Parts: sequence; C-alpha cells; structure tokens
Amino acid sequence: MKGCDLMVEVGRRRFLGGLGVAAAGAAASAATAPQAGAAPAPALVEYPSHHLANLSQLKTDEPLAVAYPDKDAPGVLIKLGTRVPGGAGPDGDVVGYSTVCPHKGFPLAYLKEDRTLNCPGHYGRYDCEKGGQQIWGHATQNLAQYALRVDAKGDIWAEGVDELLYGRLNNVL
Ligand code: FES
Repeated sequence: MKGCDLMVEVGRRRFLGGLGVAAAGAAASAATAPQAGAAPAPALVEYPSHHLANLSQLKTDEPLAVAYPDKDAPGVLIKLGTRVPGGAGPDGDVVGYSTVCPHKGFPLAYLKEDRTLNCPGHYGRYDCEKGGQQIWGHATQNLAQYALRVDAKGDIWAEGVDELLYGRLNNVL
C-alpha cells in the first residue's frame, strides 16, 4: 500500500498547490476590481454631426451617395416617398443607410422595385422601409441606419448610426 499512500500524498500536494494559485488569482482580481462608487467607463459613442445634403437634391427612389461618419464609410440617402419609421424631413420619408454589407463588407445596391438594399456577395437583402431590417442573408445584425435631422433650410444632417459599421470595432474609429 506504499504506492497508494504515495499517490494520495501527490494528490494532496496538487490540491493544496491549486488552492494557492486560486487564492493568488482572487487577490489579484480584487486588487484590479473597480472601487465601489467609481464612475463606470462610458459605453456611448460620440458621433459627429455632418451635413450630408439638402432635400432639394433628393428625388424619390434615387439614392444619393454620401459618407458618414467619415469618408471611409459609404452610404446613401433615399427619399422613399412614403412616411416610414425613422424617416426624416417634412414627409418623414428620408432615410440614410450605410452601403457596406454587415455580413462581409460587399457594397450594396438599391432596388427601387421593393425598396431594398441588396448585396452581390452572398445575396443579403435589407428593407429600407423598415430601418434596414435584414430580409434575407447571413449578417448578424440589420443594416446600419443613420440618425438624420433636417433643419429649416432643408439641410440634412447625420448625427449617429444605430448599428455597428462593418469592419470597425467602434463606428467612429
Ligand atoms: Fe453581403 Fe455576404 S457580404 S451577404
């Protein structure tokens, strides 16, 4: 039974060694844990306000190419001619979307027959009348829609995006 006693002793040492590692880990995490009452890190993204176009430049179902929040983020403004949720302007029918597919980044094309943005990569489809909702495809999110504001002169401003832009960890990086 000497061999068996030796095995028990080795097992006991390993167990106690493991306790030591666990205690050290707990102490380290306690040392780095935020203090009670400390302000949490901000989670919101600060978006720039960018002038994109004027209402006079838009014609129903003819997308106008724009970029937001920077020149590396292509998108479109579309006057749908029908009031939609999230639509801007006096008729509530102006929407703006990224034109980079949220699946793998292919450029999207507008199809006026059903008011969708369509991807040539893997045939993803996004509904422009329903906030960029994915109708079909492989993306794990809907299409990023701009938060738009139209001022008294008809100037259209983008002031945010409601989904993550493809290829970015943060929409304004
Ligand atoms: Fe658009 Fe795959 S890149 S569906």
